[in-house]
Amino acid sequence: MRAIITGVGHFVPDQKMTNEDLERMVDTNDEWITSRTGIKERRVLEKDKPTSYMAVQAAKTILDRNNVPADELDMIIVATSTPDMMMPSTAAVVQNELNASGAWGFDLSGGCSGFLFALATASQFIETGRHQKVMVIGADKMSAVLNYKDRDTCVIFGDGAGAVLLESSDAKDAGIEDFILHLDGSGAKYLNIPGGGSSQPASYETIDKKLHCICQDGKTVFRHAITGMADVSSEIMKKNNLVGKDIRLFIPHQANSRIIDAVGKKLGMNPDQVVINIQNYGNTTAGTVPIAMSEAYQEKMMKQGDWILLSAYGAGFAWGSLLLKWAMD
Ligand code: COA
Repeated sequence: MRAIITGVGHFVPDQKMTNEDLERMVDTNDEWITSRTGIKERRVLEKDKPTSYMAVQAAKTILDRNNVPADELDMIIVATSTPDMMMPSTAAVVQNELNASGAWGFDLSGGCSGFLFALATASQFIETGRHQKVMVIGADKMSAVLNYKDRDTCVIFGDGAGAVLLESSDAKDAGIEDFILHLDGSGAKYLNIPGGGSSQPASYETIDKKLHCICQDGKTVFRHAITGMADVSSEIMKKNNLVGKDIRLFIPHQANSRIIDAVGKKLGMNPDQVVINIQNYGNTTAGTVPIAMSEAYQEKMMKQGDWILLSAYGAGFAWGSLLLKWAMD
């Protein structure tokens, strides 16, 4: 059995936060943010709505468009670093909201690589014949974990969700072809949300120190992200006898347009092969790759039989690439 993508959708909140808005909140400016990151604006979800809200909207778009009843789903995986709560999983909330009565599921914590890890995981359940329909979602409400006084982080991230429906198919030559995924926990210190877990449970002290917010050593992450994504993408192309020009679309994690440009160049890709939408949404963590894929699909940038290469790098460090042959019209 092959695992093919039969639907893709996304949701971003209506409310925009522009670089000019941030200028009024923290010592930064539009010129710096644009030239250093490529970001012009990002979306922010209402305070009273959780990550699952965006995940449900993204999944519903696909179910409605494809006319698939929610109770036909076998499994729901939500890749997120900003779950609604510590327990139960965001997948449980999504399952209930969708009325997906036949589905089990779980959250997957893979930082910015979460969606790739989830897609790879889901593909295994389908290829073994165990499941027929899996909803794979990448969703993050980063505004919930940002310190809007920390200019190193608050200018970079935004809120959003994307999803794909993965289905089994007996097509010989379509769908998820290969993936190479990595985890190196020695990178944990460079990008994390230290508070609120079992090592530093919520306390007055963790709140005073803003330990429930994301913190990073941007320079170190930047360097590793370029090498990590470029190397693993080269490796997967070589393993599958492909070169840069064989790939119709490279859909990378949207962390920084300078990272994307550098990786694209290293892979020998032309700009028209590389999907970039970071200017509109910033880094939505697990949301970036499926949102970019969904927009590329809406803009008819790929057709059936095209090679699509996904790649991501993030907290862990966790990174990888996934190669697939597009199976939709
Ligand atoms: N606005 C204005 N100035 C800022 C700023 C901001 N938001 N943030 C940092 N600066 C200043 C710094 O203080 C520094 O000033 P100095 O030269 O006087 O010391 C200067 O700008 C350069 O900072 P630096 O950190 O060297 O910039 P950079 O080119 O490395 O870009 C990032 C910073 C964060 C944009 C970049 O490192 C990055 O994108 N890293 C990857 C992070 C990431 O993607 N993480 C998510 C997971 S993948």
